[in-house]
Amino acid sequence: MARLALITGGTRGIGAAVAQRLDADGLRVAVTYHGNETAAQDFAAHHPIPVYKWDVTDFDACRSGIERIEAELGQGVDVLVNNAGITRDAVLHKMSVAQWREVVDDDLGACFNMCRNLIHGMRERGWGRIVNISSINALKGQFGQTNYAAAKAGVIGFTKALALESARKGITVNAIAPGYVATDMVHAMDPQVLAGIVAQIPVGRLGEPDEIAHAVSFLVDERSGYLTGATLSINGGQYMA
Ligand SMILES: NC(=O)c1ccc[n+]([C@@H]2O[C@H](COP(=O)([O-])OP(=O)(O)OC[C@H]3O[C@@H](n4cnc5c(N)ncnc54)[C@H](O)[C@@H]3O)[C@@H](O)[C@H]2O)c1
Repeated sequence: MARLALITGGTRGIGAAVAQRLDADGLRVAVTYHGNETAAQDFAAHHPIPVYKWDVTDFDACRSGIERIEAELGQGVDVLVNNAGITRDAVLHKMSVAQWREVVDDDLGACFNMCRNLIHGMRERGWGRIVNISSINALKGQFGQTNYAAAKAGVIGFTKALALESARKGITVNAIAPGYVATDMVHAMDPQVLAGIVAQIPVGRLGEPDEIAHAVSFLVDERSGYLTGATLSINGGQYMA
């Protein structure tokens, strides 16, 4: 039976590209979303991939959502891509407690909520692939993003620690740190700020969601079992850590 992959935030942007790529690779795929109904309806209308809705910042919702997917699809989740994320930018001296907490809960807390509820099954079956989507801004910092940079840097530490705990169980855990990728998240930025950023990218353009999906495909491949605890930068040469 084909492996089952679950992608959080998989109905648009990078997550949707990952879902389509893993589907094309021959995996069974399910996606989750929360908060953007139009994109989810559009995705469901155009792809034969089951779509589930819950808030990944809610631990119990993650547990029941995963249980429902495994029951409905008749197998355990073998591949998890923690892709859901948000930004709530503000300089620290103006950042609200809500802006801090929302980003840390969504971009970092969700990795715990999802992995904690899935890891038992992967350990029992002796096989798993987890890919956590971090960010270039975890590695280099970014003005106005103390919340996001901290959460995404936390994702990298989480990835390394869980990779150590999981290595003997056939489970790999890796992170991807994308640079600026052409999605709604980036198109929501001030166009002048974005133009200034693109000017600093050696490759001379934004990344494409498919280019991140290509790396996820590689990391979750059956033959990638010796690759764990890594953070793969995909940023057009913008930052070389
Ligand atoms: N676009 C970029 O340039 C870029 C760069 C670096 C890292 N990233 C990261 O890549 C990931 C995907 O980014 P994107 O640009 O495709 O974003 P996007 O805003 O287009 O999509 C994010 C998805 O996450 C989902 N989501 C957010 N919060 C959720 C929650 N609480 N529960 C369930 N689903 C939730 C949304 O429904 C949406 O489908 C994010 O983690 C983001 O931080 C993006």
